Amino acid sequence: MRSVTSARDLRAAIDAARAAGHAIAFVPTMGNLHAGHHSLLHLARERAGFVVASVFVNPTQFGPNEDFARYPRTPEADAAGLAAQGCDLLFLPAVDEIYPFGADAAVRVHVPGVTATLEGALRPGHFDGVATVVAKLFHLVQPDVAVFGQKDYQQLLVIRRMVRDLAFPLEILAAPIVREANGLAMSSRNQYLDASTRERAGVIHATLQAMCAAVQGAGMAHAQIEAMARAQLEQAGFVPDYAVLRRAEDLSDPAADERTGLVALIAARAGSTRLIDNLLI
Ligand code: PAF
Repeated sequence: MRSVTSARDLRAAIDAARAAGHAIAFVPTMGNLHAGHHSLLHLARERAGFVVASVFVNPTQFGPNEDFARYPRTPEADAAGLAAQGCDLLFLPAVDEIYPFGADAAVRVHVPGVTATLEGALRPGHFDGVATVVAKLFHLVQPDVAVFGQKDYQQLLVIRRMVRDLAFPLEILAAPIVREANGLAMSSRNQYLDASTRERAGVIHATLQAMCAAVQGAGMAHAQIEAMARAQLEQAGFVPDYAVLRRAEDLSDPAADERTGLVALIAARAGSTRLIDNLLI
């Protein structure tokens, strides 16, 4: 695997791969990679002869009170993991390579609608930062396919919507959520949990499954199911930011009798660590 830090070297390596007849798959990340990220790499590898990953902790998607400075940076372990997973090219840009006028002065991409709720409502500006950096990375890499994890479900919808609306000529693939043995979705944030909280955090997936079963059982109203889910999380010592049922296609509120095409989503806090997860119904 080759590593490059400049947009110029990135383009040269990708142009050479294209000239050799390869399709390009791209996996954008913020590093601190785990088995969840590795599964994105596998999907990319299945779809293209040349796999590019980026590791860039993007300042514009962190709010003023969020953990940008504290975000774990593990470039050596990331590079070793990516090489072992068959990545061909690693792009490791500095902030001014991505934001030549500075992060605060950058042109912003705003995706309306789907960003107004849930994570977008709780983390103002977060999805503008995500859409902006992903648009820039797509321009730099010009991939045929790009892979995102389904764990960040709302992010996936934001990217799909941006790609369609701005006519990026590429396909977005969603990789299924990878879970720990107790059902906890893999996340860089899991390492902040102590052993007992990490074990208890399996309740998040169990609650999503209970929400799914309750929707399919058709005996409970959506509001009752959401209340049951919040109670289950609180009982296990978590503070839910939300535990909701939404339409899977755009996160709008489902009508009372809608029982299919839904997604259950949870964000819950244990101390200062915030965990998110979801399950398609
Ligand atoms: O999901 C992430 O790791 C980030 O939001 C992404 C897509 C790499 C953009 O910085």
